[in-house]
Amino acid sequence: MGIFYNQQERVFRLDTPGSTYLINIVDEEGFLCHAYYGRRIPDDNMAYLLRLNPVGGPFKTSGQQASFLDQLPVEYSGHGLGDFRESCLRVETEEGYRSCGLTYLSHRIYGGKPALPGLPATFGGEGDCTTLELRCHDRYLDLEVCLLYTAFEKLDVICRSARIENRGEKPVTLTAALSACLDMDNRDFDLITLHGSWAYERMINRRPVAWGKQGVSSLRGISSHHEQPFLALAEHAATQDQGQVYAMHLVYSGNFLAQVEMTQQELLRAVIGIHPQDFAWKLDPGGSFQTPEAVLAYSHTGLDGMTHALHDLYRNHLIRGPWRDKPRPSLVNNWEATYFNFDTEKLLDIARTAAGRGVEMLVLDDGWFGCRDTDTNSLGDWFVNEKKLPGGLKYLADEINKLGMKFGLWVEPEMVCPDSELYRAHPDYALQIPGRPPMLSRTQLVLDFSRQEVRDCVYSQLHKVLSSANIEYIKWDMNRALTDVSSLCLDADRQGELFHRYVLGVYDLQERLLRDFPNLLLENCCSGGGRFDPGMLYYSPQIWTSDNTDAIDRLRIQEGTALIYPLSTMGAHVAACPSHTNGRVTPFDTRGLVSLPGCFGYELDLTKLTEEELDMIPGQLENYRKYGPVFHDGDYYRLASYGGNGEYDALMAVTKDKRTAVIDYVHVMSRRRRRSVLLPLRGLDGETRYRSSETGEVRSGAGWMYGGLLLPEMKGDFTGKLIVLEAV
Ligand code: DGJ
Repeated sequence: MGIFYNQQERVFRLDTPGSTYLINIVDEEGFLCHAYYGRRIPDDNMAYLLRLNPVGGPFKTSGQQASFLDQLPVEYSGHGLGDFRESCLRVETEEGYRSCGLTYLSHRIYGGKPALPGLPATFGGEGDCTTLELRCHDRYLDLEVCLLYTAFEKLDVICRSARIENRGEKPVTLTAALSACLDMDNRDFDLITLHGSWAYERMINRRPVAWGKQGVSSLRGISSHHEQPFLALAEHAATQDQGQVYAMHLVYSGNFLAQVEMTQQELLRAVIGIHPQDFAWKLDPGGSFQTPEAVLAYSHTGLDGMTHALHDLYRNHLIRGPWRDKPRPSLVNNWEATYFNFDTEKLLDIARTAAGRGVEMLVLDDGWFGCRDTDTNSLGDWFVNEKKLPGGLKYLADEINKLGMKFGLWVEPEMVCPDSELYRAHPDYALQIPGRPPMLSRTQLVLDFSRQEVRDCVYSQLHKVLSSANIEYIKWDMNRALTDVSSLCLDADRQGELFHRYVLGVYDLQERLLRDFPNLLLENCCSGGGRFDPGMLYYSPQIWTSDNTDAIDRLRIQEGTALIYPLSTMGAHVAACPSHTNGRVTPFDTRGLVSLPGCFGYELDLTKLTEEELDMIPGQLENYRKYGPVFHDGDYYRLASYGGNGEYDALMAVTKDKRTAVIDYVHVMSRRRRRSVLLPLRGLDGETRYRSSETGEVRSGAGWMYGGLLLPEMKGDFTGKLIVLEAV
């Protein structure tokens, strides 16, 4: 494992346990070519894959330079010099010139991984990973680019980013600065992306790669409900546990592009990074720009291998802080219980009912500040509404603490309502274009988080609130996309920086919050799952998955989410019935089963439950206490998908030592089965014998995996079971 340079072959070799990545320096000019990425191989010399020959590839003669470049698999594509595929780097000089191309300059290899200033990024020490800094340049522009690659020791993951430096004497504007590029042959690949909408996030979408460009993107200023900054290329025959899969995922929370392009020679170029549209970053002489990080994962064991690599990377090398490895507290959130209609007594009623059943935390959602009784005012006024909450947050938190529970609070720091004290005092704090009335959404405007004084103003209010009471958890919400993206404080030639500066501002504030309140448990949220991305995970170990709290709709949402995110990151709550999202009625215990694998909680008025339902809560919490760690820290396997079969859903988690496995089975739509169903399990130790909690039967792991688990016969729709296998 590690990174090596073979001077004779002029090849960089990046090895992870199961993959090899080769970069060739080609030609006296020093083009940085991408020779190979795939299953681990011992050879350094794979230059034949570049097809630098007259027969099948880009043969360079002095007269054929441009068409040579259009076929060459490269590490980081430039622009305007013959490579007409997607450009990773585009520039505009003061004179308006736009061409750029990179060649090798120098390199450095070292243990560990550098932090990316101001940006979330994976981390690792000397024993965890090795980094290659590959410096290249455009010799005519005095532009240097440092391509960063980190190969992980125990994971088939390579993280990439680029730092672009202006070494010249004149400013230059970057009009594209993507994070990574992957050129390769098309091996009958499918493209997998996660598509969605509000309350229906991260639906898995798989289709064959076609000619031309295809992919996903966001221009909303957030990673969005609609697309995920992720793509995977899976061999058409790849299944859950077989075949090759390549994934790219961006550690970023704003506009992005994730795209694959199939060109004339059936070469693929996959790219990922900040969306070049609405992006223009002016680099003054001596200035540098760091792109967000792209995670590349490789699997030759199907989607499982990709999922496990990403889950382990995020759990161990992205999520930080004391809550990373701790069981997350079960909670009750009052949003769907009361919406804005609550007072201290109502909250304490809910808390008493919750505490009596063992729930660990009460989260007070929207409506506790300013004079907010509807969603039309007060965002920006982060001081408690004493009319609703006499004695303030301190009294409430103390009373809740006396019940043995923690207290958590909702905030939406990035926003301001026109009807607020903050807006009346500082109308210029909102993003706006002078002379054009700004677009409202949910009666709110977006604060200009690129400005230090705006962030300071919000932060000093938040700091005061958090210091006023024992608040152990914050739900950081964000309820609209960015429009009118213009800052009153940026020069005209820097307005194109604003989308990115805004995201950096959000990161800055979350970092400050965690620095000043290091034990705080932060949960990010964005009208549900509109900013469920790896960037946010660097600050909050859990994210509210979706505003859709219907258990059956949640099956697909959580399936898509779990394809790339650890179960420990998904906020999942038992909500009221009929569902506030779609009116569906599902049994209380099934709602519990669907929420169990995530960060478990309740999102309903507990005081309105029947005795029978209330009696189920201690059992649900006991399951969460016992099996939450198996779901959160173990290996996840998707066994069956209701989205695919229309009948039932099953997921499984196995502890790393393979002693315990939990199968979460939801029988969605009942129908008479012609014969009982055997569901092959995965991830067990073939030799170890396991006992089923369901039948008491003892079988070898091999028996459970290759013979299969006989699905319980269940009557009625929306039922389910938790089945535990323990090694004997
Ligand atoms: C959107 C969130 O996703 C909900 O959970 C809730 O916090 C509301 N905002 C409050 O306005």
